[in-house]
Amino acid sequence: MSQRPSHASDTTSEPAPVEMDAVGSRASDLPLLECAPSQRPLIEEVLEGLTAEEKFLPAKLHYDHRGSELFERICSVEEYYITRTELGIMKDSSEEIAESIGSGAMLIEPGSGASLKTRLLLDALDSPAAYVPVDISRDFLLEAAEEIARRHEVEVLPVWADFTKAHPLPEADGEVEGRAIYFPGSTIGNFTRAEARDLLGRFAEMVGANTSGDVGGSVIVGFDQKKEIGRMEAAYNDAEGVTAEFNYNVLDRLGRELEADLDRDKFTFRAEWDEEVGAIVSRLRAREAHEVEVAGRTIVFESGEPIRMEESHKYTREEFEALAGQVGLGLDRVWSDPADDFAVARLV
Ligand code: AVI
Repeated sequence: MSQRPSHASDTTSEPAPVEMDAVGSRASDLPLLECAPSQRPLIEEVLEGLTAEEKFLPAKLHYDHRGSELFERICSVEEYYITRTELGIMKDSSEEIAESIGSGAMLIEPGSGASLKTRLLLDALDSPAAYVPVDISRDFLLEAAEEIARRHEVEVLPVWADFTKAHPLPEADGEVEGRAIYFPGSTIGNFTRAEARDLLGRFAEMVGANTSGDVGGSVIVGFDQKKEIGRMEAAYNDAEGVTAEFNYNVLDRLGRELEADLDRDKFTFRAEWDEEVGAIVSRLRAREAHEVEVAGRTIVFESGEPIRMEESHKYTREEFEALAGQVGLGLDRVWSDPADDFAVARLV
């Protein structure tokens, strides 16, 4: 199961007035390319996870409204170095990154954009042909797209789609001289190694990287680098407890949306480094043996039994290069911070 945070955007944008259409969806003047697949009912996904031999919940469940707010708070807690480090790299290197992408490019961003990082890159690009945000959450997508359209002189062409699946790209009005995917935020880290490889493969196809076509492109991706275990674990066990709350909120959400009587007080939270997996694994663990009812099903928890909530994969450069190499992408360049904590890679 994909560990995809659909609209996990560490956005710094200002709130915009929201207009709704007759059926309560967000209205927009932007041309929306609609390729949204039917989503699997929440209850099915939850029961699959809670009845598995090793219980898990899909990481995307973190991102309801409250979860998205909590994620934004995580981005500025002291221990969570990822967001500020990547932003620093973009502030220092967006000109170079833009230059490597070239002029007249279509910039495609899987997951809602409008973050400061996206804006820095758009500002630095030479005459971009279009900005194409892609997301499965229609309202977040349009909100982010409108924010960019308000602030930048670029054609904005949102695509409502699951970016982990193949989908068409919109036609830009102007000439597209190349395509680039921008996938920041270490979102790639929330996919297993195999899923990340497949995702990079789809990105490569989408931009025409490594092909003899005339729209050769690149994939710009931010990934978190392996470092001292204590620092990685601290980033996901912040002293203020914001990350713990981000995880407990999933239980509250299931209570609200599925009438599941999962009681947060019956669980502890801990994120731990797993050397074999190469990831920080976040888990809720039952304090005592107990049973819960979820949609008429009884779920039994043993004392100490975990629910796997999220994986946050970390890579060395060599590992990331090898991963990209599996789908024919080469590591062309890497931009990093002075401590070499985080990396923004250009894959071609
Ligand atoms: C969105 N994603 C890259 C975050 C991460 O670091 O795995 C989600 C997160 N979970 C807990 N803290 C941050």
